[in-house]
Amino acid sequence: MSDRRSFQSFHPFARLARLLDSYPAGDENPILLSIGEPKNQPPAFVAEEIAGAAASWSSYPPPRGSETYRAACADWLSGRYGLSAGMIDPQRHLLPLPGSREGLFFAVVAAVQTYRGAEPPAVLLPNPFYHVYASSALAVGAQPVFVPATAASGFMPDYQALDPALLDRTVFCFLNSPANPQGAAAGLDYLAELLTLARKHDFVVGFDECYAEIYDSAPPAGALQAAAALGGSLDHLLVFHSLSKRSSAPGLRCGFVAGDASLIDGLDLALRVGGAGVSLPILAAGTRLWREEAHVEANRNYYRRNFALAERILGNRFGFRKPDGGFFLWLDVGDGEAAALKLWREAGVRVLPGAYMAEPGPDGINPGARYIRVALVYDAAVTEEGLNRIVQVLGEADDARLAAVPQAAAAEG
Ligand SMILES: Cc1ncc(COP(=O)(O)O)c(C=O)c1O
Repeated sequence: MSDRRSFQSFHPFARLARLLDSYPAGDENPILLSIGEPKNQPPAFVAEEIAGAAASWSSYPPPRGSETYRAACADWLSGRYGLSAGMIDPQRHLLPLPGSREGLFFAVVAAVQTYRGAEPPAVLLPNPFYHVYASSALAVGAQPVFVPATAASGFMPDYQALDPALLDRTVFCFLNSPANPQGAAAGLDYLAELLTLARKHDFVVGFDECYAEIYDSAPPAGALQAAAALGGSLDHLLVFHSLSKRSSAPGLRCGFVAGDASLIDGLDLALRVGGAGVSLPILAAGTRLWREEAHVEANRNYYRRNFALAERILGNRFGFRKPDGGFFLWLDVGDGEAAALKLWREAGVRVLPGAYMAEPGPDGINPGARYIRVALVYDAAVTEEGLNRIVQVLGEADDARLAAVPQAAAAEG
């Protein structure tokens, strides 16, 4: 368990600012590849829908949103994951969210309400992780348990290997697939086994699938497919989706959570206490976005272009591999913090040291320490320039490392 005890300590960008901000950028045109903020534009109809619903700005956001929005989300889920009619009841199994972040945080607040154990409740999260996961545990006084999601485990956390006593006091478990930052996606078996584990030990799994729509050729599997394969119950399951990445609309603040009816009721209650709701004009735009696929495919093409550039420019440097989903590169540069500093000072390229998204394990090793996270969110021209600068600054060291690999193998053999 970490002894760092502040939201700030888990916040990667606060740490990045401390690392870089006392140095000027090493290029008059800095390139900011540190933040995963989509830069492609959402469709023009978003503005039309918002304007068309302008009369409802004078209403508070209804806590459960609008029927048309929930129906659009349920229909999208059924189509995307091939669910049988009726598995998702839009009245009982769905809530709108302002993106996924607020729901992820409040789902832990809701889950801990019913915990009656004598020992502190535990929240499981992958390591590296999206900082909100750890902060939600912190906010409710739960123990965050950082479970390695490294190359050795296919970049997915091995929750099955945890001590049953720990699993028994677990209230909530996060799974991010496709994962930020590694880009790995869980297979259907993995998802089904995690859900089975959660049911056995009575904890909620929050499947964060906000990157589910950003992929190259194969759509990543989803938790609802796993639930369907297990018989169709939504027990112990919440799944989070968002228009931030799917529709390049992070500023819209529009997404949803689907899952077990009693968990949805609990989350609804928590959000009525501390959440903002999603206003009706935003829901009108969101309804249309969930029902429209052409812009999503165009969005995928935007990222396909960027990953094709990465493949060409990086080749086999830094352990490059195309992610199963999402828009991040997770590059093994040996020392991510040193590399981030060098890239900023010498080339004005801002990337995130992997260590800032991870906690050291009991062995003292931070599983993100060797990596940098590079967000390929800009258009092809900026992306190409950024990647070229990365190779110019870090390529020589990596070439030397690659050249040394066969010799090391020969020495061992
Ligand atoms: C893993 C992960 N989950 C959730 C979010 C929250 O996104 P939003 O609230 O815009 O849906 C992000 C944002 O970057 C993320 O990386």
